Amino acid sequence: MKQLKPTILAASVLFGLALPALAATLPAVPGGGKEGFELTPNVVFPAFDAALGRKVFAEKGCVVCHSINGIGGTDGPNLSWGKYDTPINAMEVATDLWAKASTMIAMQKNELGKQIILSPDELAGLIAFLGDPKEQAKLKMSDIPANIRKDMEE
Ligand code: HEC
Repeated sequence: MKQLKPTILAASVLFGLALPALAATLPAVPGGGKEGFELTPNVVFPAFDAALGRKVFAEKGCVVCHSINGIGGTDGPNLSWGKYDTPINAMEVATDLWAKASTMIAMQKNELGKQIILSPDELAGLIAFLGDPKEQAKLKMSDIPANIRKDMEE
């Protein structure tokens, strides 16, 4: 028992130093986060900003085909809170987009006249928006610019 003590002491000192250091490098991103974060030293995520996602959903035209909070078209599946199991696996949204890409892109060219292009921040924001019922409740018709409303009516 006496021989173990220094080992235990060393281990607890090590953990005491290592854990806070580790926590400092790891992201604190409950439910999204406004800052990007590092997954590994070589892989980073942008910010998951649900407010940006709401803006992108309305302004880039996702809303033409998808509805959230009762606002939007019905050509694509309803994406309101509850569509995905929670917590939402961000990668599942990305793989769904990939799996459905050919249908969606063809429809976008047809209905919007072009394919919607997203930046990494915008895609992360959209995913955060899909996982944020409070932000979804804020989606209003007034978020949708005139040109997108026109596409919705066509
Ligand atoms: C012109 C219509 C249209 C637009 C605009 C559009 N989508 Fe879609 N989307 C669809 C259709 C249709 C499907 C289903 C395709 C299928 O099932 O093969 C779909 C599928 C999806 C899915 C997968 C859902 C599922 O049930 O698997 C997600 C997520 C999605 N869209 C998100 C978006 C986002 C985010 C945007 C805006 C950047 C967007 N879509 C813009 C038509 C559209």
